Amino acid sequence: MISHRPRRLRTTPAMRRLVREVRPHRAELVLPVFIHEDLAEARPIASLPGVSQHPLADVPALVERAIDAGIGGLMLFAIPSVRDARGSGAVDPDGILNRAIRAAADAIDGPPGRGIVLMADLCLDEFTDHGHCGVLAPTGDVDNDATLDIYAQMALAQARAGAHVLGLSGMMDGQVAAVRAALEAEGFTDVALLAYAAKYASAFYGPFREAVDSQLEGDRRTYQLDPANGREGLREAELDELEGADIVMVKPALPYLDVVAEVAQASRVPVAAYHVSGEYAQIEAAAAHGWIDRRAAHLEALTSMRRAGADIIVTYAALELAAWLEDM
Ligand code: PBG
Repeated sequence: MISHRPRRLRTTPAMRRLVREVRPHRAELVLPVFIHEDLAEARPIASLPGVSQHPLADVPALVERAIDAGIGGLMLFAIPSVRDARGSGAVDPDGILNRAIRAAADAIDGPPGRGIVLMADLCLDEFTDHGHCGVLAPTGDVDNDATLDIYAQMALAQARAGAHVLGLSGMMDGQVAAVRAALEAEGFTDVALLAYAAKYASAFYGPFREAVDSQLEGDRRTYQLDPANGREGLREAELDELEGADIVMVKPALPYLDVVAEVAQASRVPVAAYHVSGEYAQIEAAAAHGWIDRRAAHLEALTSMRRAGADIIVTYAALELAAWLEDM
């Protein structure tokens, strides 16, 4: 006699559907979007199949597609024509990212009653000629506190342009508090902060570097987390929450699901996970060889991030996932 038969709950599709613990929904998906200042038409990113760099003129159509797909948000990144040591384009109201935010905000404001959350990447790496996320001290190290002043100006530029959420991805100490204080001082009390709290120095960012024409030499190991450290990820998330982060994020996602699960347990704010470029590319490359089922793999990755406790998922597959979830 076998008294416990867990297979009983797996017998039929209807039974499996009934007992499912998580049900991913399109509303929790966020699509990263790349706007390139120099392009006249969209240019595919070779290492991110299905993803392109877009000219500014594409923004309204991209917003439309995202709203029609019913996803929860867009995360804007931009690639400027000119870069310099201090990342000046990031704080310039006419810089490409701030123009893209304005265009997206206008498109969202258009017809009433159709909401989507507009997020902007708040980091200097796309704007500096050395490719680091902050300004450099004479020693060549990233100068934490000098960078905070620029992040504060960048935050104000993005808030003025109409961003709803600022994605602080630079991993400088004190960045959430610095940006929150600047926003409060100017009356931007409703602009939310999504802190890349536990952002690891990861090999899985490879294709993203192509997506933003990165000029980085070397690595980000003095500011992004060591992949060996789980507790430190929890500490970062806790500090960001105390500094006023509205949402905390773990990044990458699948190699760090232990961190996602622990942050989800400990945090009292929503938790996001970023299924990063290299994670997406792994699925695409294997699927292109016919080695895995592309749709099933993307859906399983999403389900696993949700099961670990993430509330919000940033993914390059957001539009397709939204469609697939509809007919499940
Ligand atoms: C930095 C940033 C990076 C990513 C998002 N924001 C790159 C990095 O830290 O090197 C990576 C995202 C991805 O790989 O999909 N602004």
